[in-house]
Amino acid sequence: MNGNKYTNGEIRNGNGFETNGDSCTYDDLMITAKYVLDRIPKMPSIGIICGSGMGALADTLQDKTIIPYGEIPNFPVSTVEGHAGQLVFGACSGTYVVCMQGRFHHYEGYPLWKCAMPIRVMKLIGVEFLIATNAAGGINPAFNEGDVMLIKDHINMMGFAGNNPLQGPNESRFGPRFPPMCKAYDRDLIEKAKDIWKNQQFDGRLFEGVYTCLGGPNFETVAELRMLKLLGVDAVGMSTVHEVLTARHCNMTVLAFSLITNECVMDYYDHSQPNHEEVIDVGKLRQSTLRRFVEEIVAYIAKNRMK
Ligand code: HPA
Repeated sequence: MNGNKYTNGEIRNGNGFETNGDSCTYDDLMITAKYVLDRIPKMPSIGIICGSGMGALADTLQDKTIIPYGEIPNFPVSTVEGHAGQLVFGACSGTYVVCMQGRFHHYEGYPLWKCAMPIRVMKLIGVEFLIATNAAGGINPAFNEGDVMLIKDHINMMGFAGNNPLQGPNESRFGPRFPPMCKAYDRDLIEKAKDIWKNQQFDGRLFEGVYTCLGGPNFETVAELRMLKLLGVDAVGMSTVHEVLTARHCNMTVLAFSLITNECVMDYYDHSQPNHEEVIDVGKLRQSTLRRFVEEIVAYIAKNRMK
């Protein structure tokens, strides 16, 4: 017995290496969801994941309630610089939303189901729409640093290697054993996001493309990037895919975009090297545009897509 009233007697130390931690049971997740619901005035219908350097998306919410991950039973904690590690609730364009300021990555040592566990908590507290953002390296030669790519599809490379957040016994209260993924990213939201970018005349360029997530934490070799390019990947990062799989499993509607923080080094004679500081810096440079972009998308969803 570990004395934590929020667990089912399993030993959870918050870092993902619990002794009996093959999954979070539905009951564990309900405990987590109830704890969160007890601290907020109403249920959010939109969830937003703030990517590296994009935490400011949450800073301008109105009437905020902030819950640090460390206070939430069963929640992992964020260990990456540039990721604050808290849930921020509040109004965005007049709609009540929840932002994850800081997400969980496989390279932090967390299994994929645990990286994506906050998505199930979001579902249980009322979220029906997920807006996932990330920082990514641009593989498509047309992409420059600071560009934005709406994700139209992904290649689940970690899934090819047998690693998937939905592995293990299926929890049918969330979704089916074999969820389809051919419409993972909502087409209407992609089109509307493009319209918004154009109509609002946001600075910089907006593309649409295919994303892949690798395990990290190292950036890719030249040969790996060339292989990804051959496979049709436009941008590469270390997140999002497992969150989207989990969100679609429980039938959330998903929009996702990547901020291209660096152009991938595809040539042995190119002496530039990607680094995390650059990822954070480009995020900061683009955060006010991306915040306005997300606000407009939220306003569209609230007006046209919410029941
Ligand atoms: N590779 C992987 N992840 C990333 C990159 C990259 O080049 N840039 C930002 N996140």
